[in-house]
Amino acid sequence: SLVILDFGSQYTRLIARRVRELRAYSVILPGTAPLERVLAEKPQALILSGGPSSVFDPQAPRPDPRVLELGLPVLGICYGMQYLAQHFGGRVERGGRREYGKALLLEAKGPLFRGLTPPLQVWMSHSDYVAELPPGFTSVARTEENPVAALMSEDGRYLGVQFHPEVRHTPEGMAMLENFLELAGVRRDWTPEHTLERLVQEVRARVGKDRVLLAVSGGVDSSTLALLLAKSGVDHLAVFVDHGLLRQGEREGVEGALRALGVNLRVVEAKERFLKALKGVEDPEEKRRIIGRTFVEVFEEVARKEGPFRFLAQGTLYPDVIESAGSEHAAKIKSHHNVGGLPEDLSFELLEPFRTLFKDEVRALALLLGLPEPLRLRHPFPGPGLAVRVLGEVTEEKLSILRQADAIFTEVLWEEGLYHQVDQALAVLLPVRSVGVVGDERHYGYVVALRAVTTEDFMTADWARLPLEALDKAARRITREVPEVGRVVYDLTSKPPATIEWE
Ligand code: XMP
Repeated sequence: SLVILDFGSQYTRLIARRVRELRAYSVILPGTAPLERVLAEKPQALILSGGPSSVFDPQAPRPDPRVLELGLPVLGICYGMQYLAQHFGGRVERGGRREYGKALLLEAKGPLFRGLTPPLQVWMSHSDYVAELPPGFTSVARTEENPVAALMSEDGRYLGVQFHPEVRHTPEGMAMLENFLELAGVRRDWTPEHTLERLVQEVRARVGKDRVLLAVSGGVDSSTLALLLAKSGVDHLAVFVDHGLLRQGEREGVEGALRALGVNLRVVEAKERFLKALKGVEDPEEKRRIIGRTFVEVFEEVARKEGPFRFLAQGTLYPDVIESAGSEHAAKIKSHHNVGGLPEDLSFELLEPFRTLFKDEVRALALLLGLPEPLRLRHPFPGPGLAVRVLGEVTEEKLSILRQADAIFTEVLWEEGLYHQVDQALAVLLPVRSVGVVGDERHYGYVVALRAVTTEDFMTADWARLPLEALDKAARRITREVPEVGRVVYDLTSKPPATIEWE
């Protein structure tokens, strides 16, 4: 594997993804991980990430020095390179020549740049720089500003780049990372087929003859997980709770696809129960709490009735794992729900086969496992469903209006070839009415807001510049086909300051 020691760069996760795209298995560990922890990953090479610290700061995170003595090939990026320079006896200096944004490598030589011809565009973001090379190191790239934009030790084992090869603004960055993997001899067998085979083995070995329970939501992670369990041939029960807050055709779609692929699926009809619990409730957080709680109750009833189960399977992904290990200080913006709140006496062992995977890797597995495209490539959908898109009190009538409007918007995006150009698209039913005319009649109708965003990670998002013709088509169809809707508006707010959902 390739171990990435994380010193807090916003790009660390991107490094891991790029390496995986190059079909090498990568793991992120805290920058200060002790030797034993690093060795447990059987590393063939290391990458030291960038980070906000300066090597001058006595508090700056540093790798366990024994890790650098393993004799493994090491690539330091930004802070990682500065650390290497300082560690091996070079001199790093502060400020002065701050480079931020695009820069050009005027010269670039040696194995890291094999096959590449300068000038090469790269992305810089630093203020410290290497003023003096450590003994035995040479500069292998320079920009106009910076004579040491990349460095290498005599034996070629230690390499550093001041810029970020992992970002798209370094167009040849993938080639550089690939050169590093090649010269480091990192195994390149991380294919979806291989991953699937490994996961099937792992699930079989861990579960044995015991039973596994899981909740499916219709999202790609839980659906793929259900398929993995079916493929592994373990005794499983997948529970799909129809809370009545689903989109048009959603339940049928999930049911059909999963059953056809051998999943043992139980659909629980709980529409009445959820609507009753939500009656008269307007506060968004209160709605989420009620839905979360009711979901757990329903799930729990199935678990007790159909049990015992030894395992509870969850589609936890690698970013969740990194996140919960990392940022303890992340502010609570919205309470997202999952099946975390089960009572103590229903104690399960957690089975999380996707803990090491990124979303696109789960999608690749889904393809191998035969999950139909509309489910596999679908935009994310929140657990509380349409309840957080019907602003204010949720009623059956409002849900029905929203469901139709949402289906039309989605259909238009598919027809216009726009669905995959945005990362999430949705319709929201506002709790106000507005006046219009239909024929000669005054019409007092609902307002539907359409929202579409582009985003890398859903933490920040930009509103999508959809073609006006597409918006026009959606608005016309919605007002024509859903008579309760009198007006359609488009949301022009990015995140921040708004969130993607309206509640
Ligand atoms: P916001 O609205 O916070 O949403 O910008 C970010 C992403 O998370 C989804 N979302 C949820 N997903 N349970 C979920 O499973 C939730 O309670 C929930 N709330 C928001 C949202 O759709 C977007 O993709």
